[in-house]
Amino acid sequence: MINKINQLLSEIDNLKAAKAEEIEALRIKYLSKKGEVSALMNDFRNVAADQKREVGMRLNELKEKAQDKINQLRESLENNQASDDAIDLTRTAAPIALGTRHPISIVKKEICDILRKLGFSIAEGPEIEDDWHVFSALNFADDHPARDMQDTFFIARNPEVLLRTHTSSVQTRVMEKQQPPIRIICPGRVYRNEAISYRAHCFFHQVEALYIDKNVSFADLKQALLFLAKELFGADTKIRLRPSYFPFTEPSAEMDISCNICGGKGCPFCKHTGWVEILGCGMVDPNVLESCGIDSRVYTGYALGMGIERITNLKYRVSDLRLFSENDKRFLEQFESAN
Ligand code: DAH
Repeated sequence: MINKINQLLSEIDNLKAAKAEEIEALRIKYLSKKGEVSALMNDFRNVAADQKREVGMRLNELKEKAQDKINQLRESLENNQASDDAIDLTRTAAPIALGTRHPISIVKKEICDILRKLGFSIAEGPEIEDDWHVFSALNFADDHPARDMQDTFFIARNPEVLLRTHTSSVQTRVMEKQQPPIRIICPGRVYRNEAISYRAHCFFHQVEALYIDKNVSFADLKQALLFLAKELFGADTKIRLRPSYFPFTEPSAEMDISCNICGGKGCPFCKHTGWVEILGCGMVDPNVLESCGIDSRVYTGYALGMGIERITNLKYRVSDLRLFSENDKRFLEQFESAN
């Protein structure tokens, strides 16, 4: 009997269980009415009288030990589960992955922020426009090629309703409602019926600026342009104005900046000229002022307009315009902006 008790004692000592059901099975095996310990208890009557004292003590010891062991297994199982499920409220949360801004939005904001420093404020207008605001008021002759079906998207074959081809239409909308001084920037999307390729798209983005007041001169325009170029491309940037033609400005010019890729030495991007064209500008044609109800004998003004994609290409060297509208995350994730 003593041997059997010793054997069970060491067996119980080494018991292990990973699940509650296993512990219950052990309890049944050792401690239930039909369990091993009870069986020994039942045999106790057959123990010789002179051994009863000792065997009785060992039996009690065995019973307690078995009970303790089962309790101990239950406790450690509960502790393990508790630590697995516990939520540590002091841990920092997983960082929230922030999205990135679209490169066109980044550059649009940059241009607007620069012009805001010169006192300009933002004006917006509709993308679906009429002929008057896009062309007629801006001094486009009736047979001007820009009105052509080839260039302009007309809506429902109605020659009066169209998608704006430039943001200069917003100038018209502001001038017909407001008397000078006017100092506005008009950022927005424009549409032209172009075959889509790496260097042309049927929609793109422009920012327009318009300043009308008494005594506004070409010198004011040039100073604003120089400021804009240096802020956008760095303090070493040089500008050059070439005579040009736009129906709504007279005189008109196109502005080049010293190529910011080769620093003006000449490279494939600037076609080895050292200069790249970035915008059109000029003094607002008196006909435009008059057609919008502004007295051209009292007021003068300048206007400038640029394509945001072009500026973005210069800043970030994006070689294919289509990337701007394809929503390819691999492209978009390369741009980061703090605001
Ligand atoms: N509207 C012209 C275009 O789409 C750009 C432009 C040129 C705007 C000269 C102007 C300007 O305000 O003065 O090509």
